[in-house]
Amino acid sequence: MRVLSGIQPTGAKHLGNYIGAIRRWAAQQDEYDAFFPIVDLHSITFLPQDPEELRESTLDLAALLIASGLDPDRCTLFVQSHVPEHPRLAWVLECMTPFGELRRMPQFRERAASQQSFSVGLLTYPVLQAADILLYQADLVPVGEDQRQHLELARDLAQRFNQRFGETFTVPEATYPEVGAKIMDLQDPTKRMSTSESSELGILRVLDPPDVVRRKLRSAVTDTGRDVVRSPTKPGVTNLIEIMAAATGATPEEIESRFDGRGYAPFKEAVAEAVVELLDPVRLRFGELRGNTQELQAILAKGAEKAGAIAVPTLAAAYERVGFVTP
Ligand code: TYM
Repeated sequence: MRVLSGIQPTGAKHLGNYIGAIRRWAAQQDEYDAFFPIVDLHSITFLPQDPEELRESTLDLAALLIASGLDPDRCTLFVQSHVPEHPRLAWVLECMTPFGELRRMPQFRERAASQQSFSVGLLTYPVLQAADILLYQADLVPVGEDQRQHLELARDLAQRFNQRFGETFTVPEATYPEVGAKIMDLQDPTKRMSTSESSELGILRVLDPPDVVRRKLRSAVTDTGRDVVRSPTKPGVTNLIEIMAAATGATPEEIESRFDGRGYAPFKEAVAEAVVELLDPVRLRFGELRGNTQELQAILAKGAEKAGAIAVPTLAAAYERVGFVTP
C-alpha cells in the first residue's frame, strides 16, 4: 500500500498542519511505502512570492519534516518542482476537468473572494494536487478536513481517466485523524487555524518557543462560563479540548472529566504544557538540522530520484493512453 501527502513550504507551519498531517505521516512511514512532497509549485498560486523566501522556506520545511520524525531512509521526502512529471500530468488532467467544477471549489471561492484579481493557477491548483497523488498510484492520502473537496476531485479524475482510457490510476482514499482533523484559530474558534488567515495570537506555530505557546494559550478565546465541555455553543473550549486530546492521546471525555468544576485557568495551563511537550522536541531538533543546508539538499536530491522512479513510468503510461506518440 502506498501513502502520499503534500504540504506547502510557504507560511509558518502550525499545530493544525502538525496534528492534521505531519505527525501522522511520521507514524505511517514504516507501515506503508510513503511519499511526502514539499509542494513548492502550489506555493506560488496566490501570493507574490519573494524568491529568496521561497527557497529558504522550502529548506526550512524539509528540516521541520525531518525534525518531526520523517526519516528520508524510510520514506521519500522530495520537492515537487524537482519532479517535472507533476505539471506534465496536471495538464492532461486539466483538460479533463470542467471549468465549473473548479470554480465551485470552496477554497478557491474563499481565496478569490478575498482578492481583487487572482491567477489561473489558483483555479487549477486542485488539479495539480490530483496529479501529485495519481502519479504515485497512492492508495491513501492522510490530510486534514480542509482538503476533503480536493481529494474528491482527485478520486473523480482517476475514475474519469480510467473510464475513458483504460485502467491507469489507483483511485486514492483520503484519511482524516480521529481528533484534530480541523484545529481552529485560538482567537476566532469558528475559523480553521491557517497560515494565511489567522492572526499572530490565533496561530500556534510548530516552532514557537514554550513561553510563546503558553502566552497564546493563556489568551485563547473561550467564553464567560467555566465548564470544560465540548459544545457547539463553546467553540473555543471545544477546540482546546481537541488540541489537548490530540497532543496527549487522552480522549476528549477523559479531559472533560479531569477538569470538571475546575474552571478555565488550570485547564488552559494544562493544554499549554501538553502542546509544549508535543512541539518542543521538534523545535530543538529543527535547530540542529537547519544549519546543514548541503545535507538537506542532498537528502532532497535523493528523494527526487526515488520519486522519479515511480513518477516517470506512470506519466509515460498515461501519455501513451492519451495518444501522444512515444518520444
Ligand atoms: P497545506 O500545506 O495547506 O496543509 C498541509 C496539511 O495540513 C492540514 N491542515 C490542517 N489540519 C488540521 N487542522 C488545521 N487547522 C489544518 N490546516 C492545515 C491540511 O489538511 C494538509 O493535510 N493542497 C494541500 C497540499 C497538497 C497535497 C497534495 C495534500 C498538495 N498536493 C497531495 C495531499 C496530497 C495544501 O495546501 O495543504
